[in-house]
Amino acid sequence: MNIYLIGFRGTGKTTAGRLVAQNLGWEFIDADDYLEKKAGKTIRQIFQEGGEGLFRDLEEEVIQELSGMENKVVAAGGGAVLREKNVENMKKNGPVILLEADAHTIYERLQKDPKSHTQRPNLTKLNSFEEIVHLLEYRKPYYEKAADFRINTATIRPEEVVMRILSKYQVWSKSRPV
Ligand code: S3P
Repeated sequence: MNIYLIGFRGTGKTTAGRLVAQNLGWEFIDADDYLEKKAGKTIRQIFQEGGEGLFRDLEEEVIQELSGMENKVVAAGGGAVLREKNVENMKKNGPVILLEADAHTIYERLQKDPKSHTQRPNLTKLNSFEEIVHLLEYRKPYYEKAADFRINTATIRPEEVVMRILSKYQVWSKSRPV
């Protein structure tokens, strides 16, 4: 069994995911880092060479691979829910937990995160803030459809996010047919 964290860039998947993994004694895997290691290139380079299409194909392979593993807390990339196959794969062996935040909070967090430069190329021709607003709106139905549980991370501390993830995980494992 794994735990999957989904949600837009900057919703706190990596921060919370690391802490949840520590708490359970599981391994934390950031799907973007895993993909970069596997490809031997940064996400920005992959986008430059083959566009978003190539990145999404590699992302699909990665999610498939990770869904065959056990006891991992997986932070999926913000766009992983766009492919139905990824959602199916994640749901095969774990709860899918959606982390949410408003566009302003996300914008602030992304500005401060050094990973943004290599791992988060622009996805549209809009400016950074407008892109966030537009994609949050566009992806909303995908996130909501994929999510077994939702947690708003904008106004709570990472430790509280972790407590909530762990409690959702308990609920999920108890309701799971044996
Ligand atoms: C993406 C989010 C990024 C990364 C890539 C595409 C997206 O992951 O997978 O830049 O489409 O929202 P994070 O959500 O970990 O930043």
